[in-house]
Amino acid sequence: MRVARLASEIDFAGWRAAARALRAEGVAPEAVVWTVERELFDLETPLAPSGASANFTVPAAFVELAEQVVQNRASDRFALLYRILWRLEREPRLIDNPADPDMTRARDMAKAVSRAAHKMKAFLRFRLVEGAATETYAAWFEPAHRVTEATAPFFVRRFTNMDWTILTPDACVAWDRQRLTVSEGADPADAPSEDAQEELWRTYYASIFNPARLNPRQMRQEMPKRYWRNLPEAALIPELIETAQERAAAMVAAGPSKPPERKLKAALRHARDASYDGSLPGSLDDIATGVEVCRRCDLWRDATQGVPGEGAARAPLMFVGEQPGDQEDLAGRPFVGPAGQVFEKALAEAGVARDRTYVTNAVKHFKHALRGKRRIHKTPDRGEVTACRWWLDAERRLVKPRVIVMLGATAALGVIGKPTPIGANRGKALALPDKTQGLVTYHPSFLLRLPDAEAKARAYAEFVEDLRLAGELAQLI
Ligand code: URA
Repeated sequence: MRVARLASEIDFAGWRAAARALRAEGVAPEAVVWTVERELFDLETPLAPSGASANFTVPAAFVELAEQVVQNRASDRFALLYRILWRLEREPRLIDNPADPDMTRARDMAKAVSRAAHKMKAFLRFRLVEGAATETYAAWFEPAHRVTEATAPFFVRRFTNMDWTILTPDACVAWDRQRLTVSEGADPADAPSEDAQEELWRTYYASIFNPARLNPRQMRQEMPKRYWRNLPEAALIPELIETAQERAAAMVAAGPSKPPERKLKAALRHARDASYDGSLPGSLDDIATGVEVCRRCDLWRDATQGVPGEGAARAPLMFVGEQPGDQEDLAGRPFVGPAGQVFEKALAEAGVARDRTYVTNAVKHFKHALRGKRRIHKTPDRGEVTACRWWLDAERRLVKPRVIVMLGATAALGVIGKPTPIGANRGKALALPDKTQGLVTYHPSFLLRLPDAEAKARAYAEFVEDLRLAGELAQLI
């Protein structure tokens, strides 16, 4: 029996080195015990550092899968991966076999890990550490799998300018605005007490029953969303919906029943249950809160957050894009990335002030695929556009724009409800059934992608013309 002893529960590099050495030596999976315990198995033959360099390659997809599987809490994960690696020599197509029990189990483990990482990104809440010398935030979280280290870079990107520590039973990670350090797991006793949690619940309810104390729209204007998102009373909303819907309903019902709160509750319910036909969202804030916890389609799973529209509450001119891009997904605001820059430049040339308009998207979550570390945009499908149309319609009803500009084909599908070719329809006003005027034009990303400089300049000039026409129809210029 051989013992492969790894340095930690998520020691992927250690597993890889040991697996290569064992396979090069021809040690069968049944003859290996994988452990991270230092004291056990001392009577067994430990794995000596092997000089045998393993002369084989494995599919990149297997390496990616293995990196995730290692974070799963299942005790047989290292053995399972070694068995797959072992089998790959004779069965090079194994990785593509959807029916193979080892592959199915590995994929399920990887999926569970990615769900745990998503939950950590969505539901971890930082709190200000009282009495610290400098402004420091801490969060306690118990991930379903060992995803803390792998997820930490996400929080670094998201909260680069904050000092923070994430405490979990597996590991603690701390960021001091320059370096990320990892230390041993914390004791659950370090978690905020039940009482403290209760206090936060109360604060949350107090805040929604007293709009003067928490007005997300106003707060968004006054301080960056990144900070207010982490005020416990604001941040609790998704957590409440996820973990304590019944309790939330009971507590909300116990409070004074004013129309705005009823509408907020209804918006939250609409976010979870597409068949619910209760009252429609009563304000743009209700929509923003609903979008944040929306489960009407699956796109929320991989996105950082839902991105609601923003702008003048009763704007005569509404712009609808496709979906948030990478930067919008991180910032929580529409059109702030490269496409947003083209849009703003063209708007300025057309003489339209963005802050007098309302800017939103047909789909509120970022659909993408991972390529290495990069998130590559994927066009939302018709089902996703239809699911999200519910929020777009709610925005249209509340903002009541005179003119709606659809930036690209997905926006046109979201607004009009059927495919509308851009080339044949751009540049002229279309009468929409709700008596607003519609105008389809290019999506700014399309302009960015055009390879030919002349075609690009021509399309850009047409785009500016379309925005100018929209500004005139909306009587903004
Ligand atoms: N593209 C869009 O359609 N919308 C955004 O918000 C950003 C890029």
